[in-house]
Amino acid sequence: EERKMVKICCIGAGYVGGPTMAVIALKCPTIEVVVVDISVPRITAWNSDTLPIYEPGLDDVVKQCRGKNLFFSTEVEKHVHEADIVFVSVNTPTKTRGLGAGKAADLTYWESAARMIADVSKSDKIVVEKSTVPVKTAEAIEKILTHNSKGITFQILSNPEFLAEGTAIEDLFKPDRVLIGGRETPGGQKAIQALKDVYAHWVPEGNIITTNLWSAELSKLAANAFLAQRISSVNAMSALCEATGANVTQVAYAVGKDSRIGPKFLNASVGFGGSCFQKDILNLVYICECNGLPEVAEYWKQVIKINDYQKSRFVNRVVASMFNTVSNKKVAILGFAFKKDTGDTRETPAIDVCKGLMGDNAKLSIYDPQVQEDQIQRDLSMKKFDWDHPLHLQPMSPTSVKQQVSVSMDAYGATKDAHAVCILTEWDEFKTLDFQKIYDNMQKPAFVFDGRNVVNADKLREIGFIVYSIGKPLDAWLKDMPAVA
Ligand code: UDX
Ligand code: UDX
Ligand code: ADP
Repeated sequence: EERKMVKICCIGAGYVGGPTMAVIALKCPTIEVVVVDISVPRITAWNSDTLPIYEPGLDDVVKQCRGKNLFFSTEVEKHVHEADIVFVSVNTPTKTRGLGAGKAADLTYWESAARMIADVSKSDKIVVEKSTVPVKTAEAIEKILTHNSKGITFQILSNPEFLAEGTAIEDLFKPDRVLIGGRETPGGQKAIQALKDVYAHWVPEGNIITTNLWSAELSKLAANAFLAQRISSVNAMSALCEATGANVTQVAYAVGKDSRIGPKFLNASVGFGGSCFQKDILNLVYICECNGLPEVAEYWKQVIKINDYQKSRFVNRVVASMFNTVSNKKVAILGFAFKKDTGDTRETPAIDVCKGLMGDNAKLSIYDPQVQEDQIQRDLSMKKFDWDHPLHLQPMSPTSVKQQVSVSMDAYGATKDAHAVCILTEWDEFKTLDFQKIYDNMQKPAFVFDGRNVVNADKLREIGFIVYSIGKPLDAWLKDMPAVA
């Protein structure tokens, strides 16, 4: 049976929409994929040689399909009008004002996208929720679409994306699972099958899970909450390890060997960051509160509180070790992105650590292989939305940021004449730095505070550094100068 070419349109050309659609286009040569966005510079970048996001393997995928069956466009309405399947992958930040401020998801972009879809559609469509949204958003979107539909049928699906930044392409090529939620009606089931057919081009059938709408929506929030909880659990242990002389790496290894627990995602760190974990947990907390479940809300809130504690504990450790003052001391910051292999700085722990050190009047010299200077300046000038968690950091004025922060082109420039080095992102290149050279060019005593446990602490101690590693037995120096958290 001859079928016309399926057309997919994705609204939102960001970290999720861009890579996901590029991989669908690569794996489904018979499907035309158009990614649209209201941001002209974003679309221009997607059509250029310098893509707007850094993601290993992405350039290659885009090069193979762009202009063939993958297109990037700002003509949002035209392409939505033509599509059979519309993915919505717009941003859903945390609300900063009004009801639920600081916790609830801001669905402004989602709602305007839904109204636009209803406006321009002249044929039946499947509308796929791709960005993480609160449970029951699909239902709300369905209402907007059907109440404005002029006789057109819309089927709503929830198809949350589980890719992690830095490994997006790998994750998309070999997903642990693809999750599709839809209505239990015949129309809903038909829509689920249509989306399943897209993924079936490369994902084994057994890895495609179908559920009802709400289960799919909640599963995404739950998965991110569980993952963040693992990190807060190991980070909480890291504080206890430092206090007792245990080694968190050994503890995590021993714990992870239990097949019921598993070895992955147990690296102690200066704290988790990224656009998802905190946002999704805040959202989960808000949903629990709205549903009369304060105990459940309280339980998940602790995951964020421990994360904030871990960041301020790190700052306190730095300051305490350096005679309780970093005022006017040069402190090198190696790594600013929220994890390696991305240029993304959303919610990066580096922002809170840097602001903490700047609050004590340190002079920061920052190096990250993928984050540009203007991004760092913006991140450190921005006021952080204050919800009910205890990290009360003052916003910095842009002038004080300019005076206190410089950005270096490499790790050697950043560390020259510095009193201390803080490693905040686990970039591979930091493992192979010439630390003898760095030591020789630093003030003495020279400190390394490894927030990601990437350097060989014993080798650094042989060179002469005083070394702090998260969750590892403390040097005598650090024991003598206990941090007050
Ligand atoms: C996460 C989820 O992994 C992904 O499934 C979801 O779709 C989006 O949110 P992402 O935020 O891109 O992905 O990266 P992830 O690898 O999960 O790391 C999040 C943060 O946790 C980073 O700051 C990372 O450094 C930190 N982390 C991760 C740790 O501190 N320790 C670990 O063991 C793992
Ligand atoms: C536990 C640990 O599993 C074991 O490694 C340790 O040595 C001793 O403590 P045990 O208490 O004997 O073993 O049984 P376990 O299977 O862990 O169950 C503990 C409780 O958790 C039970 O009440 C069980 O019903 C409950 N449970 C377990 C759940 O409610 N849900 C689950 O998914 C698993
Ligand atoms: P994510 O990490 O979830 O992909 P991003 O912020 O990277 O989030 O991307 C979301 C994209 O959605 C942005 O590029 C933004 O310009 C785009 N966007 C938001 N609202 C609309 C809209 N109504 N129509 C088209 N694009 C939109």
